[in-house]
Amino acid sequence: MTQLIARSAAFAPGRASAPAPAPAPGPASATADVLGGPWPASARPGPGADLLVGGVGLAEAAERFGTPLYVLDEGEVRSRARAYRQALPHAEVLYAAKAFLCSAMADWVAEEGLGLDVCSSGELWLAVSAGFPAQRILLHGNAKSPAELRLARRLRVGRIVIDGPAEIARLAALVAADTPQKVLVRVVPGIAAGHHAAVRTGVGGQKFGFPIEGGDAADAIARVLDQPGLELAGLHCHLGSQITEVEPYLRALDALVRLLAQVRERHGVELPELDLGGGHGIKYLPSDAEFDLAEFAVRLTDRLAVRCAEAGLEVPHLIVEPGRAIAGPAGVAVYRVLSVKHGADGHCFAAVDGGMGDNPRPALYGSQYSVRLVGRRSDADAMRADVVGRHCEAGDVLVRDAALPADLRPGDLLAVPAAGAYQLSMASGYNLVGRPAVAAVRDGRARLLIRRETVEDFRLREVGR
Ligand SMILES: Cc1ncc(COP(=O)(O)O)c(C=O)c1O
Repeated sequence: MTQLIARSAAFAPGRASAPAPAPAPGPASATADVLGGPWPASARPGPGADLLVGGVGLAEAAERFGTPLYVLDEGEVRSRARAYRQALPHAEVLYAAKAFLCSAMADWVAEEGLGLDVCSSGELWLAVSAGFPAQRILLHGNAKSPAELRLARRLRVGRIVIDGPAEIARLAALVAADTPQKVLVRVVPGIAAGHHAAVRTGVGGQKFGFPIEGGDAADAIARVLDQPGLELAGLHCHLGSQITEVEPYLRALDALVRLLAQVRERHGVELPELDLGGGHGIKYLPSDAEFDLAEFAVRLTDRLAVRCAEAGLEVPHLIVEPGRAIAGPAGVAVYRVLSVKHGADGHCFAAVDGGMGDNPRPALYGSQYSVRLVGRRSDADAMRADVVGRHCEAGDVLVRDAALPADLRPGDLLAVPAAGAYQLSMASGYNLVGRPAVAAVRDGRARLLIRRETVEDFRLREVGR
């Protein structure tokens, strides 16, 4: 049928180093070879042509919870989080909540020893309400409102990343000198990396941070150091998304260590922390490259030691903020086919009950996915089809030119792997379709984490007419 390409071991963080709580057949197993694609490690064929994830059949879960359904493999999230801790034992790993956050996700990463990176009062409030320790939270964002900063202070957030000039005075005004706020300054190292112009944040000409080149970063650092209520702990940068090479991080690190040395020269202080952000790429297609965590950990740690020794600096405490690499591969989106149209030119459109409302990434970035039929065995030949959404946009195409069985019909279920990051968190209310339900799977059990959004939810927000 579809993707008979062997799963790659390149990233495989949980499998490389940590015993996963969910069954992990491992990249070399026959099961993985048959499935192909970037499925969670626990994925294996189930009865009735179902696909088991975390021991639960996707078709069975779709029957129970309805579609579209997002299935999150708790074991995969945990093993990926644990792999970061094991690969970088001396660093602090903050899960980037923007990839996907709910209370259960906050619990899982907290239990695995990660901190949290949030970028809004919504993410902050949800995490703290779920019991996430505020001291282990870092708040960043290019346009934090005064209310957001006040909330962060009130909740005693561990670190705030300063991203623009206005924020320095705004934050300082909220802070009493006897209870200083630990801050980092976000700098732009001038390094282009990432899969799409819209997510490249390591270069000038975009809205985040203070460029090192031209002196903006140095000026901001001087101003922060002048504020008695702000405890400047270090520098922060984030290069972009879906980065699969280690090299850009090494170049960023060089630039940041040079800046640390300048700060010591100018101000006589050694900043103790260096945050390199996230951006670690995952596989969406079987043929995609992915970020090599082990290589990253070794080369980054070595490079940091060398550059600090050259500059005569103490090695700073390293922080990383992976989001997609933890949540992405743990999620599978399950859709029901609503219509199959064969055009006169032979082109086939398979329309499903979700689309750009729950996954805007293909429309935003041209992102590509793989897809497979689940819950029904088909011996039909493969055909090429576009898997399209149900929203009123011709550009609502989830998977272009997918290989699917030629007898695909309404009622069939299609599963899209690598769906755990930047889909639900970017989901919209377009066409008042409502956002999908989210279920967690682990050890053969499924539980609903987030119920489906209904039209009543939309109506409830209306307060006038
Ligand atoms: C500051 C910062 N940290 C971390 C992340 C997480 O990136 P990723 O999910 O690609 O690892 C982002 C994503 O945009 C970010 O802006």
